Amino acid sequence: MQINLEAKPLAAVEVDALVTYVFDDNDGPQGRAAELDQFTGGLLSRLNKGGELTGKSLETTLVHAPANLKAARLLLVGAGKREQFASATLRKVAGVALRYLKARAVHNFAFVLREGGVTEENAQAVVEGFLTADFETDKYKTDRKKEKFIDSAAIAGFTEAEKSAVEKGMTRGRIIGEAQNFARDLVNEPSNKLTPRILADKAQAMAKEAGLAVEVLDEKKIAELKMGALLSVAQGSVEPPRMIVITYTPANPKTGAPVIGLVGKAVTFDTGGISIKPADGMEKMKYDMAGGATMIGIMKALAALKPNVKVICVVPATENMPGGKAQKPGDIQTAMSGKTIEVLNTDAEGRLILADGVHYAKQLGATHLVDAATLTGAIVVALANVNVGVFGSDQAWTDKLLASAKDAGEKMWQLPMDDEYREFIKGSFADIQNIGSGKGGGSITGAWFIREFAGDTPWIHLDIAGTAWNDDTKPWLAKGPTGVALRTLIRLIMSF
Ligand code: BES
Ligand code: ZN
Ligand code: ZN
Repeated sequence: MQINLEAKPLAAVEVDALVTYVFDDNDGPQGRAAELDQFTGGLLSRLNKGGELTGKSLETTLVHAPANLKAARLLLVGAGKREQFASATLRKVAGVALRYLKARAVHNFAFVLREGGVTEENAQAVVEGFLTADFETDKYKTDRKKEKFIDSAAIAGFTEAEKSAVEKGMTRGRIIGEAQNFARDLVNEPSNKLTPRILADKAQAMAKEAGLAVEVLDEKKIAELKMGALLSVAQGSVEPPRMIVITYTPANPKTGAPVIGLVGKAVTFDTGGISIKPADGMEKMKYDMAGGATMIGIMKALAALKPNVKVICVVPATENMPGGKAQKPGDIQTAMSGKTIEVLNTDAEGRLILADGVHYAKQLGATHLVDAATLTGAIVVALANVNVGVFGSDQAWTDKLLASAKDAGEKMWQLPMDDEYREFIKGSFADIQNIGSGKGGGSITGAWFIREFAGDTPWIHLDIAGTAWNDDTKPWLAKGPTGVALRTLIRLIMSF
């Protein structure tokens, strides 16, 4: 899909559809919508009065052959209340427009930014909205609808003076939107097409193309480094594990800036191991590498965005399988840090591989850590598919992340980490056990387990089990992988 700027006056734009958004104002079209109303001979006002054009959030109204426009159609998308309008609204509105038009075999359109809304931030959001909405998960369908595609999408409605801001936003939006889709594509791959080795190959290819340093540790190197927690999960599978390390080093690093360590869980399939999962819905566990995919996608974007801080991405990748060699409940493992772990449930494997991932990231020089993982079913109980669960050991660092999430339009909610919860994972026969002792708070004990390996290094854990996968199609997003947390973490990194 091409994304361009369209500088022509609105009436002269020759496209399959001209798109803009209207507010739930109850006072008829204003500003640029009023301009379009004139070109349609007052049709928008009439639709508004008749109740067909209300501006209600994500409502769509399509007008065919608008009288005085070169465009073949005019599509209006509801933007909801003007007071609540933000770039996050625009991202969705742009996505809704694209998917609405694509479904109707429209091939090109121009999206008109409204008066007062022409900013770099908004242009970025629109382009992110376009690209993430255009993503489909039909890669393995042999009969996919070839006539339904968008060739080109343009942004219109800016003045000559505003052009450079729109251009900048467009470039940034493209980098981020493409990185998010790259991550989603990895998550969408089934486990037979994406083993730990294949994930490592794909990460390596991306890094080489982007000009990032990359190192992939194989099972021998992982054993040499005594990554016993990662190995304990991997031992049940015939597929060997990988530890993927991608590093971005800025040309002129700021003195005193942090070195950010991004650690992503990449269990390419989670059967639960010997503590096997129920069959019903198990197929979704191909998504259990979403944390790792997000982090790899972030690195792709950083290579182009060039932040001022060093970022080290560490992705432990493995399958979690039952088998003759699989670890068993009660087994005691020694993590790379030297801590001993009693594995009471082999399905709580994410925290095991993150234990070594986090320790290794620190050893490589990370001063500030963020991990992302589809870690617990309990986070789905607590926050459903709406908010990412946030856990942190350092409130200043966590607050920075929460502010970035707000700016990026991603919903995240912090949960408590009182010392009392730490007691839940105190080991009976080893230093620590990998599940809490039956007192609830499953997402928090999972977080505490990882925190034990972060130690004093400021650390944030994002539990994306509820938000990394969209169970139903949304008007602005296909069913399947979401690429959640990528935009927030890019903002966090760019804020230094
Ligand atoms: N990958 C799962 C998390 C998960 C579970 C995501 C259900 C979505 C739905 C993780 O490895 C896991 O199995 N966690 C267990 C932990 C438990 C054994 C303490 C869980 O949440 O059930
Ligand atoms: Zn599991
Ligand atoms: Zn898992």
